[in-house]
Parts: sequence; C-alpha cells; structure tokens
Amino acid sequence: MTDARSIPVDPASAERLAGQSLTYRFIDTASDADAEAFLRADARGFLDSDPTAEQVTDQRSMLADRRNIGVFEADAPVGTWPIATVNSWVTPLTVPGGELDMWAISSVTVSGTHRRRGIARALLEGELRAAASAGVPIAGLTASEATIYSRYGFAPSIPVARVKIDARRAGWVGPDVAGRVEYIDREVLKDNLGTVHEVARTLRSGQIAGWPGRWARAAGLSAGHPNATAIRGVRYRDASGAVRGVMAYRLTEIPGAFRCQLEIQHLSTVTPDALIALWRFAVQHDLVDTVTAGLRPVDDPITWLVADQRAIELTVHDHGWLRVLDVPAVLGGRTYRAPLDLVLRVDDPLGFAHGAWRLTADADGRASVSAVDDGASADVSLDIVALSALCAGGVSAVQLRASGRLEATAVVAASLDDAFRSVEAPQLAIWY
Ligand SMILES: CC(C)(COP(=O)(O)OP(=O)(O)OC[C@H]1O[C@@H](n2cnc3c(N)ncnc32)[C@H](O)[C@@H]1OP(=O)(O)O)[C@@H](O)C(=O)NCCC(=O)NCCS
Repeated sequence: MTDARSIPVDPASAERLAGQSLTYRFIDTASDADAEAFLRADARGFLDSDPTAEQVTDQRSMLADRRNIGVFEADAPVGTWPIATVNSWVTPLTVPGGELDMWAISSVTVSGTHRRRGIARALLEGELRAAASAGVPIAGLTASEATIYSRYGFAPSIPVARVKIDARRAGWVGPDVAGRVEYIDREVLKDNLGTVHEVARTLRSGQIAGWPGRWARAAGLSAGHPNATAIRGVRYRDASGAVRGVMAYRLTEIPGAFRCQLEIQHLSTVTPDALIALWRFAVQHDLVDTVTAGLRPVDDPITWLVADQRAIELTVHDHGWLRVLDVPAVLGGRTYRAPLDLVLRVDDPLGFAHGAWRLTADADGRASVSAVDDGASADVSLDIVALSALCAGGVSAVQLRASGRLEATAVVAASLDDAFRSVEAPQLAIWY
C-alpha cells in the first residue's frame, strides 16, 4: 500500500497559494514546534479547546503516521501556527467483493482570518491530485457539514443511522443466543475494539481500518478525555470462547430521575449472535430509559429484535463521503450481484473520471472496465458525484434517476441497482 507521506506536495496548489503569498508545505512531525503548531491550529479550526501539553504528546504518534500539510504566511518561522491544515493517509476501503486503497483526508481547516479565499479548494484539489499521482483510485472523508465537498466530486456514499431506543417500552423478542457477555476493563476494551473492528471492517462495504488512537479515545484512554472514567466496556464471547463483539458505552443520569441514558460509543461485531447479545445487554439494562447508538448501518436488525418497533427512532444521515479518481480501478475492483454490460458517460469537472466507460460484469459478478470513444452512445449519463454515490453499493440508481442526478431508462437504472447494491447496507463505523 502506498505511503502517502512519500507523495510530494501538489505543485499546482503550491503555485496557486504562492500567488497569495502563502507557503504550502509538509509539517515536520519530528519537530516539536511544527507538530504542536499544526495540532493547535487544527483544534482551533474544529472549534475545540486548545490541547494541553499532554494531549499534544498523545496526538503526535497519529500525526507521524500521516501526510500533514500546513499553509503559512510566507516566511513564517517554524512554530508559527498554520493558517490552514489538512492531512491524509492511505487505508483499505471495503467494497463489495474486496478492498480498494483509499486516500483518506482529514483535518481540513482554514483559519477564521483567511476564510473564503479559495484556500480549502487548493487543499482539496491538492489532495485529489496527490492521490491520483500515487495511483490511489478513490478518496474519502467524513464531513463537518454536508454542503462542503460535492463541489470537489465527493458524494455521501455511505449513509448510516442514528438509533434511539425507548428502553421502557421496547421489550425484547430477539432470539436467545449461545455464548456470554462479560465486562472488560478499559485497556482490554481498547484492544478488543481494535481487533474486532479489524475483522468487522472487512464484512461491510464502506468500512476503513482504524488506528490505535481511535480505539484509545473510544475506550476513554486518550489524554484529557472528557468522560474517561464513565466509559464502560463489555464484550461477547461465543460458545467456543472466541471474542466476536465489543461495545463501549457510557451511562449518564437523567436529572432527578435516578434513571439513566445508555449511550453506545462504539459497537462492533463480527457475527449476528454477537450483535443480538450486545443489543440485548443495552436494551434490557436495569435503570435505563433510553439507549442511543450512532453510525449504525441502515439495515441494523434492532428494529426486529424488540417487541414494540415504535420504541425505535432511526435517523438516517450522510456519513462516509467517497470520490472516484480512477474509474476502471474502482468499478473493476468490486463485484456485482447481477450481470451488466453498458456504457457510462461520466462528467467530472476536475477531469480524473471524465469520459465514457464500458462496464461489463459476468454472471459471477466479476467486472471489466475500459474507456470507450467519448462519442459513443451511452446507456447512463451521470456526473462524478452520482458515480461516487453509487460505487460502494449504498445509494440507489433509481433514486438518483428520480432526482435528476442520473440519466438512463427506468429499466437500466433498475438493472444498475440489481448489480451495484451491496448484500448488506454499507457502514462506516468511525469518524475521521
Ligand atoms: C470549511 C472550510 C475548510 C472552508 O475553507 P475556505 O478556505 O473558507 O473555503 P474556500 O474559500 O476554499 O471555498 C471553496 C468553496 O467552498 C465553499 N464553502 C466553503 N466553506 C463552506 C461551508 N462551510 N459550507 C458550504 N460551502 C462552503 C465556498 O463558498 C467555495 O465555493 P465555490 O468554490 O463553489 O465558490 C473552513 O470554513 C473551515 O475551516 N471550517 C471549520 C472546520 C471545518 O468544518 N472543516 C471541514 C472539516 S470536514
């Protein structure tokens, strides 16, 4: 897998920013001053408190694993806070039938003093050109606002659900499963979150790999964690004793009620029984009125595990954003649930995916993709956002057609859905 840190800064963005007397350069993660300035500017950009020295130290190892770029006023000495930040790394992205290398983008901030001058555009286009130059076929991110990234070709390809359960009325009709649920301390919780996710991420389209700091935070072990000691952990072992699921959660008291809300911080499972057992633990917990969980797949079985489906509120929202850079690698790097043979015409203002592409999938779901003459008649016309929305199997071509985002006959759109949709709904279980 490509090491993103080995890919030089994008010359076009460097030149564009130099035209505004700004320097676009790598952060030297070995330099205390440069690394700390990046982390503090990043925290300010995301409206967080200024990190303590302990938090800066804690975050340094994550920083060292990433390709970190800052934008500075020309000639700013090392240690000056950047006026814009971005970082990236290459991670596996699960797609139906396999994995793709994905250029993950994070820490996109522009200081309040320099907003709306095109700096974010230079950062994002720079990341996309860097990824393409490294041969990475797709880019991904999670977004603070859903209105920012479509202009660069990203689509909300992996919708997920926020689940809220009224535990007083939910009841339970799910099956009894073998195995057991047991409490674990936070160190074990951190380890189990990592090991279970590493398997779970391969089971759903849309998932990416985690990293140690992510699990330390979910387990309440990161420096300065606001609720560290309130985080609790349980895991599920199957009948053979193997750990198949893990859950980090927090109980918060409902004022004056001597009753609690159980907030699931992270729930990761690799078997249906593990998911059933951990949901049951949460829904039937004593003294709990409400259970909440985020980043669940939209087909989570919880609705069918409770006696009263009206006890469940499911709020679907955008979460995983993807951007296709290399059409043959992305469409040819996944499998399909039905045969296909059609020509797609893709409009990509940034050029990466622009053109006409013939996609053929055989009865086993294996695909081949080739560029065809731009003048060829196309079965499907769509822009880069619609193509990126479809690629992980979590968005419907029929729905895109109905919204005017994709041109095809109704029959062709339905055949795209038959072929593209993943068996289970995609999921992305982390923010990054
Ligand atoms: C979002 C942010 C990075 C934008 O930076 P910026 O340098 O002001 O953006 P640019 O000037 O390059 O704007 C590029 C385009 O995005 C648009 N845009 C910028 N911020 C936007 C926002 N918050 N919502 C919608 N559109 C936005 C601009 O209007 C411009 O549109 P155009 O190119 O179609 O004319 C900046 O506001 C910021 O740091 N916000 C806080 C941190 C954050 O939310 N980061 C995103 C993390 S996922």
